[in-house]
Amino acid sequence: MKLISIKDINIEKKRVLIRCDFNVPQDEFLNISDDRRIKEALATIKYCLDNNCKIILASHLGRPKEFNSKYSLLPVAKRLSNLLKMDVILANDVIGNDAKTKVDNLKNGEILLLENLRYEKGETKNDEELAKQLALFCDVFVNDAFGVCHRAHASVEAITRFCKEVCAGFLLQKEFNFAQNLLKSPARPFVAVVGGSKVSGKLQALHNLLPKVDKLIIGGGMAFTFLKAQGFNIGNSIVEDDLIEDAKAILQKAKEENVKLYLPVDVVAAQTCSNDSVIKHISIQELPNGWMGLDIGPASSILFKEVLSDAQTIWWNGPMGVFEIDKFSKGSFKMSHYISDSYATSVAGGGDTADVINRAGDSDEFTFISTGGGASLELIEGKQLPAIKPLLIKDED
Ligand code: 3PG
Repeated sequence: MKLISIKDINIEKKRVLIRCDFNVPQDEFLNISDDRRIKEALATIKYCLDNNCKIILASHLGRPKEFNSKYSLLPVAKRLSNLLKMDVILANDVIGNDAKTKVDNLKNGEILLLENLRYEKGETKNDEELAKQLALFCDVFVNDAFGVCHRAHASVEAITRFCKEVCAGFLLQKEFNFAQNLLKSPARPFVAVVGGSKVSGKLQALHNLLPKVDKLIIGGGMAFTFLKAQGFNIGNSIVEDDLIEDAKAILQKAKEENVKLYLPVDVVAAQTCSNDSVIKHISIQELPNGWMGLDIGPASSILFKEVLSDAQTIWWNGPMGVFEIDKFSKGSFKMSHYISDSYATSVAGGGDTADVINRAGDSDEFTFISTGGGASLELIEGKQLPAIKPLLIKDED
């Protein structure tokens, strides 16, 4: 399967609308705390600048339901302008009068960023009217927003029905090709490391991954649903009781597929979740009532290191504990070090995972860190993503 590339299309001096994923993390002062997604979009933007295009950029940021200045793309416009060392014009709206006027006045070689797409209610509803309005802004639609390709939203899916020319930008192509190659013939043993707080978001992924991997490590808050399914007392640890049966089914399926499945054997436990909490390192068997596991413990770290030692391919999605709090960050940082020290092809996905790797100082050691969370998960599961489907070269479908 191949995507229509921006290189397949004559974009010279045309109006290009590039859908980016500028959904970046921000601190309480709205400073951008990680600009990787902006940096990764530069290759496509620069290519369009070199082709003297009129460049219109569009993105969402957060999940606002309507206009809310907290979610403005102004900090993104500023960062982009610093990185490109040129002006980036920001529209005050998405398809309103300001955006229309600014698109009409845009000159070749200039960049206009539309305001947060999610200020428009139609965006998440895949609304065709919104898509038509956005399509009117351009001659060529370029999707470079890998992180949102698992969503059927107006600016990535419906819009492709109203643009004469549609293609994938360089970031989207890189992400897509990497995931395809990884799945085609991964060097074995292939180990998946899955963490994060909830099973619910990753249930389907776990089912679909089992036939593909040799070993599966489950850590993070989601491990407790599996531990409870195995009959352990998990105290006050986070659990999704309605998914206990699903967890049992996954444990059973792992046996049938001959996949070695590993869960934490000990935890860093506390009664509350804060940096002031009194903590205990305790085996799963001895977790007292009223306490909760907030990170994997040292014995689990050693076990997981051993499990990873012969891996040839490692795919990691989701932290091992509440890594934002120092006391509960060790398990995630150790996991990052073990994976980055290994000689395996190492691939990570998800904003939190990328954040852990970054904080652990291991970013340069990973083979590939995806800019997508849910999107990379669904792609690795082998699903066809709604926003990628319209960009596939037809005879290769
Ligand atoms: C992400 O951060 O995973 C993407 O930008 C998609 O955002 P969403 O989960 O709010 O749709």
